[in-house]
Amino acid sequence: MKKITIAIDGFSSTGKSTLAKQLARQLGYVYVDTGAMYRAVTYFAMQNGFVKENYLDKEGLIKELSNIQLQFQLNYDLGFAEMYLNDVNVEEPIRTIDVSRNVSQIAEISEVRAKLVEQQQAMGRNKAIVMDGRDIGTVVFPDAELKLFMNASAETRAQRRFEELVEKGQNVTFQEVLENVQQRDYIDTHREDSPLVKAGDAIEIDNSAMSKKEQFELVMKLIEEKI
Ligand code: DC
Repeated sequence: MKKITIAIDGFSSTGKSTLAKQLARQLGYVYVDTGAMYRAVTYFAMQNGFVKENYLDKEGLIKELSNIQLQFQLNYDLGFAEMYLNDVNVEEPIRTIDVSRNVSQIAEISEVRAKLVEQQQAMGRNKAIVMDGRDIGTVVFPDAELKLFMNASAETRAQRRFEELVEKGQNVTFQEVLENVQQRDYIDTHREDSPLVKAGDAIEIDNSAMSKKEQFELVMKLIEEKI
């Protein structure tokens, strides 16, 4: 069977990572969640005072970039990789709403993107990879054999995210989550460097009214045509 690269892009909370994990498990491929990398840099920036509400020390953060080491390590119990920032597991803190509030402005910085894109391309050198993010089919792997662009209504996405956060015990309202989703959509699609845009050859999937199983089966059919 041919090994391919699968690029999954789309708006936040469209279920990209759930789908990507299912596909990677089925195919025996590596899964890379690039959002976790932008979140880890954001968490670093927050911990070190480079970003606060209405404040961003962009130049200060850029100078520190060489001191940020990101790594995915497989958690054998969970069966997927977790994000490590300078050798510390940050899987939990990077998923908080505070990090979600700051991440888009960090992801706008070209120097941050260049560093992460280089690392992502290195991870995909041997193919057999499923990577999700915002610029995977357009910038990271423009030659990926299969590109998907995921979408769903903002309300559907906010409801999914809200349920996830409540389940994790975070104290948030649906309105706060909806506003965060809408704000991130705006910044992600309007930034100058690598805005979120559907690649010309990507297949769009709107999963507002689709079950996870239906979506998985649909995508597996697309993959079978390629391998
Ligand atoms: O996928 P996510 O919601 O965890 O991503 C968090 C943020 O990171 C998102 O608002 C935009 C940014 N991001 C990006 O700019 N490029 C990527 N390849 C992945 C994420």
